[in-house]
Amino acid sequence: MSDLFEPTRLGRLALRNRIVMAPMTRSRASQAGDPTDLMVEYYRQRASAGMIITEGIFPSADGKGYCRTPGLVTRAQVEGWRKVTDAVHAEGGTIAAQIMHCGRITHADNKDASSETVAPSAIRALGEMYTDTAGMQPFSEPRALALDEIPGVIGEFAQATERAYEAGFDGVEAHCASGYLPAQFLSTGTNRREDEYGGSLAGRVRFPVEVLEAMAAVDGPDRVGFRICPGNPFNDLFDQNPEETFRAFLQAVRDMGLAYCHVIRLHDVELDNIALARAEFGAPLIVNDSYKLDEAQAVIDSGAAAAVSFARAFIGNPDLVARFERAIELARFDPKRLYTPGPEGYTDYPRATD
Ligand SMILES: Cc1cc2nc3c(=O)[nH]c(=O)nc-3n(C[C@H](O)[C@H](O)[C@H](O)COP(=O)(O)O)c2cc1C
Repeated sequence: MSDLFEPTRLGRLALRNRIVMAPMTRSRASQAGDPTDLMVEYYRQRASAGMIITEGIFPSADGKGYCRTPGLVTRAQVEGWRKVTDAVHAEGGTIAAQIMHCGRITHADNKDASSETVAPSAIRALGEMYTDTAGMQPFSEPRALALDEIPGVIGEFAQATERAYEAGFDGVEAHCASGYLPAQFLSTGTNRREDEYGGSLAGRVRFPVEVLEAMAAVDGPDRVGFRICPGNPFNDLFDQNPEETFRAFLQAVRDMGLAYCHVIRLHDVELDNIALARAEFGAPLIVNDSYKLDEAQAVIDSGAAAAVSFARAFIGNPDLVARFERAIELARFDPKRLYTPGPEGYTDYPRATD
C-alpha cells in the first residue's frame, strides 16, 4: 500500500509526494505573455507539491486564448519561465509545463493582432469569454486549418516542448481536454473534416496522437504527459461517443512510453473516466476533480492512481501538503480574485505551517 505522502516516479519525473498541483490559469502574465516575478513567487510558494503542473501555456501566438496568459514562444518567455523553474527547484520541487493551444476558444482582443483563430473546422463555439478591452465577448470565428498547415501546428507543440526544457521544466503536459485544440480534433461536434485528420474515428484521433509523438521526439516520451476528460461538454464541446473516441486515443498512445495520463473524472455523466483510462492506458495515472484528502488516500491505496491532483485547494493553501499531513483546516480562496492582475488573491495567502 502506498501513501499519499510518499515519493513516486512518473516516467522520468520524480515526485516527492503524490499530491500534484493541477494546472490553473491565473492571468498574472504580462499582456505579451511573459511570465512575471509574481508568478515566480506564486509557484515558489507551492513547490512542496509532489509536482506542479503550470497553468496552460500557449505554444504559438495563434494558440493563445485568454488574456494575460503566458507563452513559450519568445526568448523573453523562456527566460521568464527559467526564473520560475529555478525557484521551484531551489525548494526541491518538480514542475511540468502544460502546453495549451486554445484553437477556437479565444477572442481576437486577447491575442497578438497578427495572430489568427484556427480550428479543425470553421465552427464558432457558442458562448463568451472575458477580454480586458471590452468585457465579455462572443468567441471569435475560427478558420479551418488547411491540411498542409497541420504539421506546422503539431510542430508548435514540439517547439514549445523544446523551449520548456530549455527553460528548465522537468516535464511537459499536452492539454487534450476542456474543449481546446486537441479536444476539438477529437470530437465529432467540432471536427467535420473529411481528410485524414477527420472523417472517421482514426482521423479524429490522429492530431492528438501526432502531437504527443512530436513532443516525445524532443527528448523521449518519459517526460511527456497528457490531460484528458472524456465526455466533458465545457467550451461547447460535443462528441457523439466519447467513450469510443477516448478508447481509441488511449489505445493509440498506450505503448509510447509516456510519463503519465492526467485524467479528470466527471460526476454527472455515466462514463467512468478513471476506469476507462485504467483499462486502456498502461502508464501511471494522475486523477483529478474534487478530491478530498480521505478519498485521495483511498484512490492511491487501491492502486488505481499513482498521484492525485488538486487545483482549487492549492489557491488558498500554498502549503497544502503540510496542511494535509497535519490535518490543518483548509483556507478558502476569493473567487473574485482568480484572474485579476496583482498579488491580491494570488500570492497573499499565508502558510499555516513552517
Ligand atoms: C482558476 C482555475 C483555472 C484553471 N485553469 C486550467 C488550465 O489552465 N488548464 C487545465 O487543464 N485545467 C484548468 N483548470 C481545471 C483544474 O486543473 C481542475 O481540473 C479543476 O479545478 C478540478 O480540480 P479541483 O477539484 O481539485 O479544483 C482550472 C481550474 C481553476 C479553478
